[in-house]
Amino acid sequence: MAMIDKDTVDRIFSAIRIEEVVGDYVSLHRRGANLIGLCPFHNEKTPSFNVNPARGIYKCFGCGHAGNAVNFIMEIEQESYPDALRRLAKKYGIEIKERELTEEQKIQQGVRESLFVVNEMARDWFVDELHNTEEGRNIGLAYFRERGLSDEVIRTFQLGYSPERSDALSHAAQKKGYKEEYLTKAGLCGKNDRGLYDRFHGRVIYPVFSLSGRVVAFGGRILKKNEKMAKYVNSPENEIYHKSNELYGLYQAKQSIARENRCYLVEGYMDVISMHQSGVKNVVASSGTSLTTGQVKLIHRFTENVTVLYDGDAAGIHASVRGIDMLLEEGLNIRVVALPDGEDPDSFAQKHNAADFVAYIEEHSVDFIRFKTDLLRQEAGSDPVKRAQLITSVVQSISVIPDLVVRQVYLQECARQLGISELVLGNEVIRLKQGRMITEEERRRREANAARLNGNRQPEGENGRSIEENSKETKFDIQRQTDKLFREETNVLRLLIKYGSEVVYPADESGDEVTVSDVVREELTTDGIKFNNDLYQRMYEEQIAFRGTQKERQRHFFYHDDPDMARLSVHLGTERYVLNSSQKQQYGTVEERLEDWTYHVIYELKLAVVKQLIQQRQEEMKTADETRQMELLSEIATYNEAKKQLSEELGGRN
Ligand code: CTP
Ligand code: MN
Repeated sequence: MAMIDKDTVDRIFSAIRIEEVVGDYVSLHRRGANLIGLCPFHNEKTPSFNVNPARGIYKCFGCGHAGNAVNFIMEIEQESYPDALRRLAKKYGIEIKERELTEEQKIQQGVRESLFVVNEMARDWFVDELHNTEEGRNIGLAYFRERGLSDEVIRTFQLGYSPERSDALSHAAQKKGYKEEYLTKAGLCGKNDRGLYDRFHGRVIYPVFSLSGRVVAFGGRILKKNEKMAKYVNSPENEIYHKSNELYGLYQAKQSIARENRCYLVEGYMDVISMHQSGVKNVVASSGTSLTTGQVKLIHRFTENVTVLYDGDAAGIHASVRGIDMLLEEGLNIRVVALPDGEDPDSFAQKHNAADFVAYIEEHSVDFIRFKTDLLRQEAGSDPVKRAQLITSVVQSISVIPDLVVRQVYLQECARQLGISELVLGNEVIRLKQGRMITEEERRRREANAARLNGNRQPEGENGRSIEENSKETKFDIQRQTDKLFREETNVLRLLIKYGSEVVYPADESGDEVTVSDVVREELTTDGIKFNNDLYQRMYEEQIAFRGTQKERQRHFFYHDDPDMARLSVHLGTERYVLNSSQKQQYGTVEERLEDWTYHVIYELKLAVVKQLIQQRQEEMKTADETRQMELLSEIATYNEAKKQLSEELGGRN
């Protein structure tokens, strides 16, 4: 994927007016220096969503969402960082220079772009045919209306029509200068001895969108029942279309999936569109095939909760059971709903409004594993061979669940449901899991990475033992100590983002002025203190290296080109220090006593670090041999001395 070059990013950043960006989505009113409105990220009746035009940031005091204009777009459009930048560039009329590509990448990029261009031309043409030609209106539009679709939803999904004549599009496209190569590669046209012909002719058209709203493919549905012809024709796979990585309707659904924190999964184009029309917009379709890992990961970007809707008949049930283990494996929570006999999501949505639809789902949805167990139990009856298969199949579903506790709960429940011992089921899980050891290992590694990136603490146990193996008490202590350390690190970063460039000691004959960030750098680098997670460490290093006024510092970090860093900066930069009562007595406000406060925050961090070092050594003592114990004792004595000094500096509280 091509990247946007730094220059362009800078130009976008300086063009952005946050009040204009947010103003496209939220109605804002002035209140003092800020603008205020109803938060788009949670439901509220009184506005707590603040936009600060001078600092270029937003923050909701209700739900805590905060960031710069790019973070806002990423959040509200559920877009990646580069896509959000592209959107903003477009809004401000800035041309994007993509970073230098290799020749091969350029050719690849060229093909992809040409396919998008051809598809988007065709989409416009199909839409135009549907609405603005007699044949389109009489046949295509009439068909959609007969199926109960409103003009609005027809526009939302950009439905179209490809006329009967078998070379209408080929002809029009070539006349406009589109190349045969791309028309055929995109699958819009085929070629025979008489020339190009239209693959979709005589069909209504459903464009398939990428996450960022570009057209990657089309589905074309035949209008009349015709046994000889396939009901749907779809675009072939090519450089921009990989069926297994797309979900129909996701582009239109992603915001409400994130907002509702749930995704409904159905089978067909019409199911998605009718549900959307009825007001249930967090819905996507797997387009008739069973789910793929790529699709599951796509859903997981927006929510952990999936509800599968299927037709009430047996075929519907079995089709939807396929692929669900994959959802479990990804750690998603899955529920399933059977619709009433003879209904599919499309027909059901046509008869019910959103509230009734959702009420039905809530009342009838069941947890997937419970559902699968029940279904198979009914089918197996008392046949012992079938029962054995049933157990394996259910255990298979349970064994892929990543979370140990969740897995355990399911085991207990299934054992009860099936009337067999938990032990037998448990053994079966172990047997199945052993066959997957390598992937398990891989998963753990990835989880650990992700946790690190998210700034979660994963405290390690002592002596290479896992924490579970240590006593409960120790586990609690270590956790508490780690939390404390994390808070102190946060305090240092907050100090830097809020006051880093403020002067603590003015310049005099003995030297230059000394800022808060100078003090922090000197104090912490001498002790070689490292922050515990990657994002924090990067932020710390960049903060202490930064030169510039306080205003420039905030602008730099609030609009940092790493969106995670930007978001963290805004969070910390807009939070107040909450001082406890003894701190209040000691400092008054932070601003009044910046020098004292700076040292206070630094010493608190050092103290937390020292305490952790002591605790680690005390733990190690429990299993160390005698020589090592002596070493440890002397180290502990040194640290205790440091601890005493720091406590005194801090006013003897610790
Ligand atoms: N499908 C397909 N090719 C087919 C049949 C189905 O690609 N020959 C895909 C389509 O994505 C379709 C989905 O499978 O939307 C579900 O199929 P089906 O339930 O038959 O279609 P519906 O979407 O329900 O269409 P309609 O209600 O218009 O018959
Ligand atoms: Mn249907």
